[in-house]
Amino acid sequence: MTLVKHSTRTVRKPCRWCGRSDLYWAHDTERAYHKHCDRCDTTGGFVLIEKDGSRHNCRNTDGSGDSMGDVYLDGPTDEDEKEATPVNAPVSQDVQAALGMLVGALTPQVDRAEIEAMVKEAVANVVFPTRTVVERVNSERKEFTGATHHKLSDVITSLMAGEHVLMVGPAGTGKSTIAEQAAEGLGLKSYSISLSPQTPASQLLGYMQATGDYVPSLFREAYEHGGLFHFDEMDNAHPSVLAVVNAALANGHMAFPDQMVKRHKDFRAIASANTYGRGATRSYVGRQAIDAATLDRFSVETIEVDETLENELCHSTGLETDQVERVLTFVRRLRANAEAHSMPVVISPRASVGMCRLLAAGRSWESTVQARVRRGMGDTEWNKING
Ligand SMILES: Nc1ncnc2c1ncn2[C@@H]1O[C@H](COP(=O)(O)OP(=O)(O)OP(=O)(O)O)[C@@H](O)[C@H]1O
Ligand SMILES: [Mg+2]
Repeated sequence: MTLVKHSTRTVRKPCRWCGRSDLYWAHDTERAYHKHCDRCDTTGGFVLIEKDGSRHNCRNTDGSGDSMGDVYLDGPTDEDEKEATPVNAPVSQDVQAALGMLVGALTPQVDRAEIEAMVKEAVANVVFPTRTVVERVNSERKEFTGATHHKLSDVITSLMAGEHVLMVGPAGTGKSTIAEQAAEGLGLKSYSISLSPQTPASQLLGYMQATGDYVPSLFREAYEHGGLFHFDEMDNAHPSVLAVVNAALANGHMAFPDQMVKRHKDFRAIASANTYGRGATRSYVGRQAIDAATLDRFSVETIEVDETLENELCHSTGLETDQVERVLTFVRRLRANAEAHSMPVVISPRASVGMCRLLAAGRSWESTVQARVRRGMGDTEWNKING
């Protein structure tokens, strides 16, 4: 028996013996007295089959007959045939024309430029949070939910590898924030000192009182008990202080005024600077050169403006999206011009975030520009940067 399935839907007319209608029509090619079927390109009488393609085998309840004896000449009804039309049958031209009209009527008449503008507007409204996850050596995970600079993970990886890290970048790019977040990510206590030419070495080492008592420093605390110590503005420090930094990182022990102290295994140093330690630059005129031996103890990470972070900080001021976009476009144009003309001007994310805050508070555009960007700049300089 060779069966070729004819219908794609179940039969309309139930089996005359058992009354089931969850069956299909098929041709039995060995009962070839039926005319040729164009749809299946086969010749054979119609029989009923099950869903799995086997011949339907049933019996009348009184035993008077069975479906295996049935071969139908007439087969499917007109209605069965209609329903069994293959799905991919060619659609008539009339139907195609009607579909075309329908699609035309439903599609709004917008051109490509309009669609692009709509998409741009929608995307500009979306703030993509930067996500940083730290997997610590003990398999603990620390996920930062707030905004993070994209360099945070590199800084943490270097610190985890046992390196001390020097972050170099223009003002306001987020170096001090990275230092705090790195300590949090590593599960270390965070210590920081902002260095200036007037900072004495005793602020790092602590000192002995006239009574003979030792007054410890934050640095001593971190060195002895572990923690991440941040030397902020390291290129602004007096050379005598840099000598202490150098000594602290060079050896496993250090002489404090009261005694020698062993460096804790979880002591790490992180430093930030606006220059690479080679002395003053156009924008950072007062900076000190850092001696090569001290510099050599650090892995250096360049921290530039992270525009995604800047977007996020500006949007979080609550200023309307189109105003934030205006501020960002304006500030970035000035930044690029200052760079192109080698001007000693720093236009950091503090300028863009500050502008957004002032505008959100109701200040006018002009007064906001004066307060956060122009800041008394003369006309010649301003025309150059604003060109
Ligand atoms: N990840 C962040 N999340 C929230 N605010 C941030 C983040 N990074 C930076 N900021 C904000 O941007 C401003 C500048 O950041 P920060 O002080 O860390 O920069 P900096 O590079 O240390 O600047 P400077 O060189 O002037 O010391 C701060 O107001 C800070 O709160
Ligand atoms: Mg800082």
